[in-house]
Amino acid sequence: MDQQSLNPETILMQAADTAIVSGESVGQPITYEKIPTQIFADSKDASNAVAQEIADLIRQKQKEGKPCVLGLATGSSPKTVYAKLVKMHKEEGLSFKNVISFNLDEYYQMEPDSIHSYHRFMKEQLFDHVDIPSENYFLPDGTIPAAMVRDYCASYENKINAVGGLDFQLLGIGGNGHIGFNEPGSLINARTRLITLDHSTRAAAAMEFGGLHKVPRKAITLGVAPILGARRIVLLAWGERKAAVIRGAVEGPVTERNPASYLQAHPNVAFILDESAASELTRVKSPWAVDSVVWDNKMIKKAVTHLSQSLKKPILKLTDKDYNDNGMSDLLAQYGAGYEININVFNQLQHTITGWPGGKANADDTNRPERAQPAKKRVLIFSPHPDDDIISMGGTFQRLVDQGHEVHVAYQTSGNIAVADDEALRFIDFVVDFNKEFGINSPEATKIFTDAKEFLRHTKDSEIDTPEIRHVKGTLRRGEAKATCRFVGIPTENAHFLNMPFYETGTVQKNPIGEEDIKIIENIIEEIKPHQIYAAGDFADPHGTHKVCWDAIEAALERSKHKNFMKDCWVWLYRGAWAEWDIYEIEMAVPMSPDQVLKKRQGIFKHQSQKDGVVFQGDDSREFWQRAEERNQGTAKLYDNLGLAEYEAMEAFVRWKF
Ligand code: F6R
Repeated sequence: MDQQSLNPETILMQAADTAIVSGESVGQPITYEKIPTQIFADSKDASNAVAQEIADLIRQKQKEGKPCVLGLATGSSPKTVYAKLVKMHKEEGLSFKNVISFNLDEYYQMEPDSIHSYHRFMKEQLFDHVDIPSENYFLPDGTIPAAMVRDYCASYENKINAVGGLDFQLLGIGGNGHIGFNEPGSLINARTRLITLDHSTRAAAAMEFGGLHKVPRKAITLGVAPILGARRIVLLAWGERKAAVIRGAVEGPVTERNPASYLQAHPNVAFILDESAASELTRVKSPWAVDSVVWDNKMIKKAVTHLSQSLKKPILKLTDKDYNDNGMSDLLAQYGAGYEININVFNQLQHTITGWPGGKANADDTNRPERAQPAKKRVLIFSPHPDDDIISMGGTFQRLVDQGHEVHVAYQTSGNIAVADDEALRFIDFVVDFNKEFGINSPEATKIFTDAKEFLRHTKDSEIDTPEIRHVKGTLRRGEAKATCRFVGIPTENAHFLNMPFYETGTVQKNPIGEEDIKIIENIIEEIKPHQIYAAGDFADPHGTHKVCWDAIEAALERSKHKNFMKDCWVWLYRGAWAEWDIYEIEMAVPMSPDQVLKKRQGIFKHQSQKDGVVFQGDDSREFWQRAEERNQGTAKLYDNLGLAEYEAMEAFVRWKF
C-alpha cells in the first residue's frame, strides 16, 4: 500500500463496479458479502485480534523509525480494544511514543473535562494509561466558536495530511449506519464538518447524559472522505442491535441511507463482528442458502421456520416444491417428503407451549418443557435491574405465583443510575415534609437531604452523583420493585436486593465483575436451593449490565453445580427489553390472555421512575411496557403465522445447560 491517502472519488467509482453476489467458483460457498467480514465467538476475542493488529502496526512503524498515525473512535464498541492495548502496554511494554492519533468526533458544544466529552473518554480509556505524548493526540475541539468551525475542520484534516494520512482507522457503527457522526444522508465526499445528530443517535446516548433533552444536538465529525482516505479501516460491531445495519452495509447496496456501506469499495477494510452482530448475515441467518450444511435438528428447525416465515405460509402447508425452490433439496432428499419434516418441526414447536412454567403436577410431562415433579418448586428469578423481572417475564412470574410455587426474586443491581435527578428531588422533598409534619427531627438526616438537594440543584456536567444521591435513587427503585412483588403476590421478604458492587460506579461505565459479585450470587443460590432459576440471557443490553449479571450467575453456577440440590435445578433464560429469541431457539413459550397482558402492564407501571421519557431509553423511543407488550404480542403472532394456536401474547425462554 503506498503512503498516499486514498481518494474518495476513485472509491466511489470502484463501488459502482463492485459485483453484487460472487460465488462463481465451483464448490465455493456463495457469498453475498461485499466487505471482508470476520465473525468471532465474542467481542473479547474479536477485540484482542484488533488490538493485536494495531500493536503489530505500531511496532512495525517503530522498526521503520516512523510515526504510526491512528484514527480512533469512541463509544462502547472500542472499549475492549483499548483495554487490551493498555494491557499490552503494561505487560508487554508496547510503547505508544511513536503514535499520533486523531479522533473521529466530539460533541458540540462540549467542554473537554465534561464526563460526557470524548476527550475525557479517550483519556480514561487509553491515553492516561499508556505513554503517548500528550502533544501527539488530537480530538475535534467541541468549544470552538461557531464562526470558526469551518476553518477549524479544514485545519483538522490538514493536520492529518501533514503527518502523512491515517495508517489505520478504527470505527464503530451507529444503529442507523453512521460512521464517525456521518449520519444517514452524508455523501461519500463529505468533509470534516459540524453536523446535526440524528434523533436515533441522540436517543442512544440519552442514558449517558441523563435524559434525551441533555444530549447535544450537534457534533464535529471527520467526514466520510477523510475516513475513506485511511490506508486500513477496521469497523467493530457487537450485539444484535447492530445486526440489521451490518447486513445492510455488508450485503446491501452502497447508499447514503447507510453510510457504512461506503466502505464496500475500500481496498483494505475489515468488519470485525461478534456472533450477535453477524446474526443477520445470510451465511449465518440461512447458511443453507450459501453452502451445504449438516442437517441436525436445530438446523432443520431453523430452516423450516425461516422458510415458513419468508413464504408467509404455515409450516403444515409447506410443499416439496417450497423446499426445492429454496435451497433445501438435500434436506428433502434425506427425509423423502416435505410433509414429514413439517410434522416433525410443528410438533416440536407445539411442545414448547405451556401454561405451566413450573411444570404441571400429575400430568404426563414427556412432551412438556418442564418436569412435573416436584409439584411445588422453589423458584429464583434473577433480575439485573429492579424491573427486568416484570418487564421480561411478568406473565410467567404471575403464573408461577398463582400456581403455588415459592417464588423469590433477586434484584442484582440497584439500578440507581437510571433515575432522573428531578425524580430523586421529588422523593427527598417527600421525606423532608414527612419528617416536618410528624415532628421527626434527625439532624444527620436533615443534613443529608439538604446537601443532596443542593447538589442536585447545582450539579455540573463533570460531576457524578454523590453516594447519598445514589442511595436515594437506589432506595426509590427498591420501593418500586417491592411494589411489583406485592402486586404479583409474593411476600416482600422474598425480594432480595443484592446491590452487586460492580454496578456502583455512579456512571454508565461499570467496573469489571469481581469475586464479591460472584460470591453474592453463589450465596443466594445456596440460600434458596432453587428447583428453577430464571435469568436474563439478554446480551444485547446496550450498556452491558445484563451481560455482566449473567457472567456472575454463570460463574456462580459453575461453582455450585456439584452440590446436591443443583442436580434438580433447571435454568431458564429470558430476554430483556431489547431483543427476543429466534423462534427456532425457544424451548418454553408461556402464553398470556388479554387480561394477563393488562395485568403485566400494571405491574410494570409500579416502576414510575422508569416511565415517561426515562433516563435509560436507548435508541428506542417506546416505553418499557410498550416494548414488552409489542414483543410478547410479536412472539404470539409468530407462532400463529407458523400455523400454531393464536394467543394474545407469549413470553419465551431457552433452557441453559451446564
Ligand atoms: C464514536 C463514533 C460513533 C460510534 C457509533 C457506535 O466516536 O464516531 O460512530 O462508533 O455511534 O457507538 P457504540 O460503539 O457505542 O455502539
